[in-house]
Amino acid sequence: MTIAIGSDHAGFELKQQIINYLAENGMDYTDYGAYGSARVDYPDYGVLVGKKVGAGEHEKGIIICGTGIGISISANKMKGARAALCTSDYMAEMARKHNNANIIALGGRTTTAELAMRMIRIFLDTEFEGGRHATRVAKIHSLTKR
Ligand code: RB5
Repeated sequence: MTIAIGSDHAGFELKQQIINYLAENGMDYTDYGAYGSARVDYPDYGVLVGKKVGAGEHEKGIIICGTGIGISISANKMKGARAALCTSDYMAEMARKHNNANIIALGGRTTTAELAMRMIRIFLDTEFEGGRHATRVAKIHSLTKR
């Protein structure tokens, strides 16, 4: 599995911790920035990761801003992107099982590194349940055509 990761300045520190975690666990990732803690605009990074994952260039994505809100809104504007802002183990699990989310969004100012790693592990390891949930996810994507 290849993972795309991106953040703004407010998510930079947590992004670096996540990158260390991915590397230590032998996971294949591409870091799309930001590459430092200088102030940047979160939509730029949400769009970048959203586009790559939405187009299938990476199976999964991880995006981080201060709260995870702005960057998830931005990523979800990209075709094929399903970014879920998660703040608990349960949300990370359900984002996969019911929503087939392909991007997890996290808050660098709201989530501890320990919780972030746990949610990422769950997110990467949990399968989509399909069935009635697939019909609903298809409905979400049909909305973009309106
Ligand atoms: C940056 O200060 C902050 O607004 C941003 O990281 C994010 O939290 C927006 O949703």
